[in-house]
Amino acid sequence: MSFPNHRPRRLRTNPAMRRLTAEYRLAPADLILPAFIREGISEPVPITSMPGVVQHTTESLKRAAAEAVRLGVGGIMLFGVPAVRDARGTASLDPDGVLNKAIRDVRAEVGDDLVIMGDVCLDEFTDHGHCGVLDADGYVDNDATLEIYGQMAVAQADAGAHVLGPSGMMDGQIAVIRQALEESGHKNTVILAYAAKYASAFYGPFREAVDSQLKGDRRTYQMDAANRREAILEVELDLEEGADMVMVKPAMSYLDILADVAAMSPVPVSAYQISGEYAMIEAAAANGWIDRRGAVMESVLGIKRAGADTVLTYWASELAGWLKES
Ligand code: PBG
Repeated sequence: MSFPNHRPRRLRTNPAMRRLTAEYRLAPADLILPAFIREGISEPVPITSMPGVVQHTTESLKRAAAEAVRLGVGGIMLFGVPAVRDARGTASLDPDGVLNKAIRDVRAEVGDDLVIMGDVCLDEFTDHGHCGVLDADGYVDNDATLEIYGQMAVAQADAGAHVLGPSGMMDGQIAVIRQALEESGHKNTVILAYAAKYASAFYGPFREAVDSQLKGDRRTYQMDAANRREAILEVELDLEEGADMVMVKPAMSYLDILADVAAMSPVPVSAYQISGEYAMIEAAAANGWIDRRGAVMESVLGIKRAGADTVLTYWASELAGWLKES
C-alpha cells in the first residue's frame, strides 16, 4: 500500500458517512429519567445545585411522565421527599406516603407506556439520612434494614411499580426483596440492583434534591472508589440473589467498572449519571466554558460506549427530544 492512505479519515468526511459508520448510537428508549416528588408543596421547587431539575408536585410529575412517554424515554425512576422523617423511615411503608402515592399516580397517568421504577432505600425517609436503620452504636444495621426493605418493596409493587431499584447497598438486599415479592404475589416485578454503587462526592446535589439530613458519610456500606475487582463480586452476589438487571453508579468516574461489568453480566446493565455529573456540566455550560448540548451528548454516549445498555440521566427527556429531531 502506498502512503499516505486516507483511511480512516475517509469515513469521517461528512455527517451521513459518520452516521452510517457509527459504532454506538443513543436512542430515547435507552434513557431513564430520575425524578423527585416532594410532599406538601403546591408548586415545583427548583433544585439550586441542579439547574433545570425540580422537586415535583403530583401534577408536575404526571406532566413530566407524560412528556417522557411522548419523547420515547425508556423509564422513570422515582424518589420521594417526605414531609416527616423518623429514625426508622416509616413513611416509606405508608401506602399513601409520598413515594408510594407518586408511583400510583404515575402508573395511572402512563400505564404500561413507560417503565415505572421506585427507589428502595431509606435515606430519603430517615431523620439521620442513612440508607438503613442504626444500631445502638450508630452503625447501619444490615439485617434490621433488610426487613424494612422487604416491606418497602412490597408497598411499591402494590402501588404499581414495574421495577424496584434497591440503592442502599445492604448485603443480601436482593434476596430479601425477591422473596418478599414472591410471597406477596408480585412475581413479575423486576429488580434493578444498584450492584456496584460507590461512595462518591458527586452525590452532593442529590442531598439537596431530597433534603437529606445526612451528617457523615456512607462508607460502611457503599463501595470504596479504590476498588475495581470488588464490583464483580457485588454483581455476582446480586445475580445469585435474583437481580434482573444490574447498575453501576456513578457513571463518569467509573467507566472502567462499567466496562468490566458489561463484559461479564448476562443481564442488562444500567449506569447512573448522577447529580454531581449533571451539575458539573450545567455549571460549566452556564459559564460559557463548554458547549452544553455537545457535552451532554458526549457524556451519555461515552457511558453507552463503555457498556451501559440503559443510562439514568437527568437529561433523559431533553436528550430524547434532541435524538428525535436529529
Ligand atoms: C440513595 C440514592 C442516592 C442517589 C440515588 N439513590 C444518594 C446516595 O447514595 O448518597 C444519588 C443519585 C444522584 O446523586 O443523582 N437513595
